[in-house]
Amino acid sequence: MCGIFGCICSSAPRVIADGLKRLEYRGYDSVGIAVISGGRLLLEKDKGMIDPFVRRVDPSRISAEIGIGHTRWATHGAPCKENAHPHLDCTGTIAVAHNGVLENFLEIKEGLLKRGHRFASNTDTEVIPHLIEEGIRDGLSLKSATARAAKMIKGAMAIAVLSSALPDSIVCMKRESPLAIGIGKKGAYCASDVPALLPYTDMIMQLQDDQVAVISRGQVAVETIAGKPVKPRFIKIEWEAGVAEKGGYPHFMLKEMHEQPIAMRSTLKLPHGFLDRASRMMEGRVYLTGSGTSYHACLASSYAFSKMLCMDIRPVYSSEFQDLVCDLEGNTVIGVSQSGETADTLSALRYAKSRGAKVIGITNTLASSITSLSDTYICTQGGPEIGVAATKTFLTQLIALDQLMLRAGLNAGRLPEGVASGLLASLNGVPSLAEGVIRRSEGIRPIAQKYSSRRSAYFLARGINVATAMEGALKLKELSYMHAEGYPAGESKHGPISLVEGDFLCVFVAPRDSSRGRVIGNMMEMKARGARIFAVVTEGDDELKSIADDTFEVPPVPEFLNPVVCTIPLQAFAYYVAVLRGLDPDKPRNLAKSVTVL
Ligand code: G6P
Repeated sequence: MCGIFGCICSSAPRVIADGLKRLEYRGYDSVGIAVISGGRLLLEKDKGMIDPFVRRVDPSRISAEIGIGHTRWATHGAPCKENAHPHLDCTGTIAVAHNGVLENFLEIKEGLLKRGHRFASNTDTEVIPHLIEEGIRDGLSLKSATARAAKMIKGAMAIAVLSSALPDSIVCMKRESPLAIGIGKKGAYCASDVPALLPYTDMIMQLQDDQVAVISRGQVAVETIAGKPVKPRFIKIEWEAGVAEKGGYPHFMLKEMHEQPIAMRSTLKLPHGFLDRASRMMEGRVYLTGSGTSYHACLASSYAFSKMLCMDIRPVYSSEFQDLVCDLEGNTVIGVSQSGETADTLSALRYAKSRGAKVIGITNTLASSITSLSDTYICTQGGPEIGVAATKTFLTQLIALDQLMLRAGLNAGRLPEGVASGLLASLNGVPSLAEGVIRRSEGIRPIAQKYSSRRSAYFLARGINVATAMEGALKLKELSYMHAEGYPAGESKHGPISLVEGDFLCVFVAPRDSSRGRVIGNMMEMKARGARIFAVVTEGDDELKSIADDTFEVPPVPEFLNPVVCTIPLQAFAYYVAVLRGLDPDKPRNLAKSVTVL
């Protein structure tokens, strides 16, 4: 979590403020910048979000051509001014912005305190500038002092270091948490993710674990913390910076929901070579792993593999992977992650690799830790997603996994060519159908209005749409703070139904599929106990329309594609409930888009 932005360019304080704004989704409980102005290190930081900070500090009035900034999501120490980054050493000449969690900071801090260092915060981060200060005192360069500190520290750290003694360079170091570096015509930059760099450059490199970089105007020198030089490898990123702006919509989430058809079409253009390589790598037992929404894509895909190919693929929450899976030698793990940086997913994949599994990464971020770790990867084409709630990245993950499933079916001889080409045609047609659903999704607003003051809701389905229901519940709870639970409809009678009484909201995902009859049975059970039913149904399903209190119709599609069309109304439902409750759907409390801590 947390966002780091650093730059060496004219109007650096303004550029940093702008960069931090683009990283705000990574955390927004406090903010700070450190710049070198008139040869001195200048620090401004505070509790709270970026906008009020920028209004108060007015970075454009500060004259500086180099600086670093940070937007925080608290891990160690409450969100307050003292704990906001950057943090300084005792001399006030070295500033550090950090993303990650340090494991052995307490013992390091104890040593530093004994050696006379003074601390101003409760953060783990603050040990870093003090360790660097000691390195400098021992005659090391800023780069070597940073590398030495990194060797002493255990844990995740992406850092940007600024020193008034080296006024034209920023030193960066990375382990586990991400850090991208960009060199453009007008300056040099570093940031926690790629979209923040795009307004300034499209030539990006990702620092790899245990590497340290010295960035100065027009160049970057990289080496390992052991001192071995590394040739920087820049990739041209094709995303347009404008794609990451709101484009006239009131919220990024709404804009990103409307981008779903384009994003899916782009994902359908994935080079066949990538899909082929990945599908041929699927040997032995196959596991799918991810977190949050990405886990729901794994779950949906496991149903699709089972139903379409009669192949059992086990979906496992990344955070549970190491405790649940032991048989990995010669088997395959598919890791699904929008950011490619989620610590739980990375840790599951590292564990799988260390136990002899092949790793396939499915991520939306080409230059990410998961792509570097994977034996092969598939890059979904969602483009930058700024809203904390995953929307277009979920649908593109489904599309990528469906393509992988069809390709694997063909390669393994489990799908006859004729059947596969029919299914592929349906897959290619789904973005247009989704477009129609999105166009009508404003129709959900009155339904959202009707239920927006509820305290609780169940999201129910059977088969592949259990994943859709779980995703709908996740969206509602993360955006509207309404308690919502998604689970297989057949499980109601084993406990959850005891909560149902007059007016309890049950959202059913009930398109025409092989489980529809059984879902109707579950709907009737809920109705009999006074529940209100909002159901997502297939166009023209008059029977369900007469049972449910409210319905939203989606076009008929083959069963494996129902999660694509049925998720959209649930995204819209969550969005409108949040807006009607006066909440900002782009910035739900306590959450961050990219969770880079375990
Ligand atoms: C966070 C976000 C979720 C997201 C999850 C996994 O918890 O708030 O929306 O689904 O991380 O992220 P990933 O980047 O791995 O898909």
